[in-house]
Amino acid sequence: MRAGGDVVAVRQAVREWAVSIGFSLVDQTKIVTAASELARNTVVYGGGGTLALEALNDGDRRGLRLTFEDGGPGIADIDQAMRDGYTTGGGLGLGLGGARRLSNEFQIESRPGAGTRVTITRWR
Ligand SMILES: Nc1ncnc2c1ncn2[C@@H]1O[C@H](COP(=O)(O)OP(=O)(O)O)[C@@H](O)[C@H]1O
Ligand SMILES: [Mg+2]
Repeated sequence: MRAGGDVVAVRQAVREWAVSIGFSLVDQTKIVTAASELARNTVVYGGGGTLALEALNDGDRRGLRLTFEDGGPGIADIDQAMRDGYTTGGGLGLGLGGARRLSNEFQIESRPGAGTRVTITRWR
């Protein structure tokens, strides 16, 4: 994803996968909203990047895992970036915290100068 229109494409793809996995409408909306925030960060702060989607099946549960990756400037202080209200771009500073709250699992790794990878998982 490189531009705003790609965020729309991400929303559509995540919605389709969530439907195919059998997510409720509420759970579809949660993961689409989280994906939208992370896609926007990838474009705005990461200078563009990629999204990998994985359908999961651990025996009794199905889930959806999304990995956003960019080769941008990275995040020097992840705790600070995760804090609600913290923004360097004039946003609301709720994207990362919101995405974490809307997911069942949340991982963020970043190396300054090398890029950022955020992985979220939502189980049905
Ligand atoms: N992929 C990224 N690459 C570099 N910095 C990022 C990335 N994602 C988030 N950040 C940093 O974390 C801050 C908080 O992100 P977020 O919670 O989404 O709030 P907002 O997008 O409103 O600024 C951003 O302002 C930015 O400084
Ligand atoms: Mg954001």
